[in-house]
Amino acid sequence: MSPRRVVIAGGSGFIGTALTKEFQARGYGVAVLTRSPRERADGVREIEWDGLRQGGWFESLDGAEAVINLAGKNINCPHTPRNVRELTGSRVNSVRAVAAAISRVAQPPRVWAQAGAIGFYGDASDRWCDEAAPAGRGTLANICRDWEAAFLGTAPPLANGRQETGPAATRRVLLRIGMVLGRGGGALPVLVRLTKWFLGGRAGSGRQFVSWVHLGDLARMFVAAVERTDLSGVLNAVGPNPVTNAEFMRQLRRAVHRPWSPPVPEFAMRLGGRLIGAEPSLALISQRCAPKRLTEMGFEFQFPDVDSALEDLCRMA
Ligand SMILES: NC(=O)c1ccc[n+]([C@@H]2O[C@H](COP(=O)([O-])OP(=O)(O)OC[C@H]3O[C@@H](n4cnc5c(N)ncnc54)[C@H](OP(=O)(O)O)[C@@H]3O)[C@@H](O)[C@H]2O)c1
Repeated sequence: MSPRRVVIAGGSGFIGTALTKEFQARGYGVAVLTRSPRERADGVREIEWDGLRQGGWFESLDGAEAVINLAGKNINCPHTPRNVRELTGSRVNSVRAVAAAISRVAQPPRVWAQAGAIGFYGDASDRWCDEAAPAGRGTLANICRDWEAAFLGTAPPLANGRQETGPAATRRVLLRIGMVLGRGGGALPVLVRLTKWFLGGRAGSGRQFVSWVHLGDLARMFVAAVERTDLSGVLNAVGPNPVTNAEFMRQLRRAVHRPWSPPVPEFAMRLGGRLIGAEPSLALISQRCAPKRLTEMGFEFQFPDVDSALEDLCRMA
């Protein structure tokens, strides 16, 4: 019998690489949809797509256990009008392309797990946001809202925020992902480097909340999305204990043995962001999110606290 197959769109990046390893370790075959396919030695088949139009790639979804869509231009670029159009377009278009492919295949995937982001809640100060919290305002929230609307808009109707599943429906799960902490990408390697250079002070007031998740826990959340047939609708994919930026940076300094760094005022963050082509608002926005649905379903976090997560990830950094 051929192994169960997971197709990961946008699976060549930071999260996709971790998901590939996690699913392979659990006996799944993995195919990756990418704009730049290459030969790989790890048994993963890379298939060309453009994240936009239909093509021969749609057949890879036929009979697959799951399709996971992570595709989208990296959010850490200056949020100029042009970049915002590309950030939104790359997400919305890839969602539409996957939806169209699912509707074309004889045997659709049982489940579609879609990446979203907690940017959906906007700058929420110190208010707790579970999955029922409303969309926020601002550029990030707008991008996330359009992204989700494209995904949920192509689905059967939702009852109480949860999808009605029927035999013909591909079950759908949307993970609103927080700041992912891992070794191979995302924000952490940059923050570790800055902290080692004594530039790891709190950002701005330091009072903004950071809702983070360890990459290993996130990979297991995607496994749960695929394997738990009772699961559908929106999940906050974050750890259970968000912390303020000041606390996060304090724990990071401890993990990399730099007891003190001067605070980084907001104007310096904005200037620095402009110089290195990054988006400073990502470090200044406050999001205090609760993984309510994951907790209710008994998901076990391997890294519930930021100190243990950073200790684990910085041990060999
Ligand atoms: N990392 C985080 O902390 C975090 C937090 C919240 C949400 N997320 C979301 O999770 C998803 C995966 O994140 P990641 O950190 O793994 O990102 P990543 O490393 O940048 O990978 C995203 C992948 O999307 C593809 N892509 C980039 N631009 C594209 C475009 N214009 N059209 C189609 N595909 C494009 C790329 O694949 P190819 O170049 O091979 O085509 C890339 O490997 C993203 O949608 C991101 O917004 C991430």
